[in-house]
Amino acid sequence: MTAGHVRVLVTSIGGHFCYEVVDALRRAPDFSAFVVGVDADPHARAWHVDAFAHVPHPDASEDAYLTRLLEICDQLRVEVVIPLSEAESRAVAGARRRFEERGIVASVSAAEVVFRMTDKGTMFEHLEANEVDVGPWRLVGSIREAGKALEALGYPARPVVLKQRRGSGSRGIIIVDAAVEEFTPLLPDRFCGRGAWTAVRDELHRRGCLLDAYLAMPYYGSHVFDVDCLAREGSPMLVVPRLRQYINPLSPVNEGCCVTRNDAIERYASTLTQAFSVDGVCDFDVALSDDGRPRLLDASCRLSGSVGAAVAAGVNVPAELVRLLTKRPLLESQPPAAPIQVRPVPRFVRVR
Ligand SMILES: Nc1ncnc2c1ncn2[C@@H]1O[C@H](COP(=O)(O)OP(=O)(O)O)[C@@H](O)[C@H]1O
Ligand SMILES: [Mg+2]
Repeated sequence: MTAGHVRVLVTSIGGHFCYEVVDALRRAPDFSAFVVGVDADPHARAWHVDAFAHVPHPDASEDAYLTRLLEICDQLRVEVVIPLSEAESRAVAGARRRFEERGIVASVSAAEVVFRMTDKGTMFEHLEANEVDVGPWRLVGSIREAGKALEALGYPARPVVLKQRRGSGSRGIIIVDAAVEEFTPLLPDRFCGRGAWTAVRDELHRRGCLLDAYLAMPYYGSHVFDVDCLAREGSPMLVVPRLRQYINPLSPVNEGCCVTRNDAIERYASTLTQAFSVDGVCDFDVALSDDGRPRLLDASCRLSGSVGAAVAAGVNVPAELVRLLTKRPLLESQPPAAPIQVRPVPRFVRVR
């Protein structure tokens, strides 16, 4: 590693808002970044990187993915690897030693931390075992069990969420709400919707959906924060709450947010990074319940796809992450004292 220069590889480089991650690295005042972008799509829009390489999808073969990724790292003398997708985070975490042997540091925590977060059931079990208050929840293994869990969680007086233990991108999220008579889909391209239990049950039967690896928890409404966190061996180094301002509360893509300090959310996220022993970066979805208690909805051991929202509000999380990983002093960024509202727009970049 040369003093003011870092060679960083960012995966899923064609993803939504990836431009912001690369741009944030380029804007660091204390180092210059050579950015390698990789993607499973050979036609990914990677106009903004110094070098682009195509990789196989880790879901097709984790071995083939890792072999190619390491080959690229060797060829381009990569020093830092930042996976931006769930499957890539798991693959890289499982092979952390192979990266370390080459002097490469990855932004993901140890494999057991990443796997624990992948399954929301083991995630809640682990947190409860570590005395973190996650509120009421039930494991669900069938439609019958879902009926019982709904009752235990206060349905029909209160709405309840059913969700896959190992889901992603709001796939299979069902808000069971007695006030909504008919089943109402909430996203056009994936199963996700809202309705009273009788209507939901009919829809599940119609789709042949068994709810065999689900969990149930109260529906906390749309007061939801994305929380960007950096931690060193469990100790929180930076926590940035972003309150979502969505038109569709279940949108899998960020529609805008308000970046703001929030003591309760910051304290809760710090407790979570400690309980999980996060080492690197992670991203939590946290709701505030009606009585003001933070409630974890989801966690992942990677830089959030929408971290650019924090950058636009003046908190350069990707640059702080590189400092953390390369043992440079952090600039000790903080969330803005007064709330800053940000919205996403597409943009042009000059390539020649
Ligand atoms: N209990 C809940 N209360 C309110 N909203 C929820 C709840 N569970 C999930 N959601 C909403 O659904 C989205 C997707 O759920 P999440 O648990 O993050 O699953 P995924 O793994 O699909 O991202 C969340 O970001 C949030 O907007
Ligand atoms: Mg989520």
